[in-house]
Amino acid sequence: MTESGGPPAGPHAGTGHDDATSPAVATPVGEPLVVLSGVDKHFGSLHVLQDINLTVGRGEVVVVLGPSGSGKSTLCRAINRLETIEGGTITIDGQPLPEEGKALAGLRADVGMVFQSFNLFAHKTVLENVTLGPVKVRRTNAAEARRRGMEILQRVGVDSQAEKYPAQLSGGQQQRVAIARALAMDPKVILFDEPTSALDPEMVNEVLDVMVSLARQGMTMVVVTHEMGFARKAANRVVFMADGQIVEEAPPETFFTAPRSARAQDFLSKILTH
Ligand SMILES: Nc1ncnc2c1ncn2[C@@H]1O[C@H](COP(=O)(O)OP(=O)(O)O)[C@@H](O)[C@H]1O
Ligand SMILES: [Mg+2]
Repeated sequence: MTESGGPPAGPHAGTGHDDATSPAVATPVGEPLVVLSGVDKHFGSLHVLQDINLTVGRGEVVVVLGPSGSGKSTLCRAINRLETIEGGTITIDGQPLPEEGKALAGLRADVGMVFQSFNLFAHKTVLENVTLGPVKVRRTNAAEARRRGMEILQRVGVDSQAEKYPAQLSGGQQQRVAIARALAMDPKVILFDEPTSALDPEMVNEVLDVMVSLARQGMTMVVVTHEMGFARKAANRVVFMADGQIVEEAPPETFFTAPRSARAQDFLSKILTH
């Protein structure tokens, strides 16, 4: 895949409607799928998200970069409504985020999330971790959920671990199970919050490889990561955050070679010297 070209058309490409009223701030790859408009949030006196405008197109891969404490995790959590917002709007596929109940469970299925700390159910097997959501939320029958679950575990390379418990797996394997669990819901978008930061270095690539292949298959992804190799290989766009604001956004090559803002230049000089 070229860095300037978009990923291949996803399964839903071309089936939606143009939404000329969406307040897109950058050119998305497909039609707008995730749209944040004027999003504001405080934690007490801390203005953690300040007038965030971000449109993620269907099939687009957006990497979010920025110093610790800049609001990256809060941004992801807001898209999944793990955090509420005080101002602005967030829509997924044109629908505002539901507030509670079944609709909220449905949203969390449509918007997968992969955390730094895996967050698997410790008392359930790998396969049960992957089938639970489809059975409970999507009402898939158990046999079908197991069949699909095995298929997805195979896709991320951990099908041979299906009957084990998370603690019996390496960190890299656990994170691939967490990705499989998100995929099993057939999500519209997957949010990744520093998915490789808790891994031993030798396990980082096995997880990034899965993510790169998802990107190439047209999955819409928002990825908080400092892995520049991943950004260069898979991202359509890099969004740089600092102090609760989106300071800069650009294609990865442009961002890494010619960052415009002093904040981004300073941030890159720090991560590049490691
Ligand atoms: N639940 C919370 N209550 C109060 N402050 C929080 C909470 N979650 C995050 N923060 C603060 O909000 C800021 C942004 O946090 P976060 O979104 O986790 O940043 P990042 O992921 O970029 O490191 C930090 O200063 C953090 O301490
Ligand atoms: Mg964070």
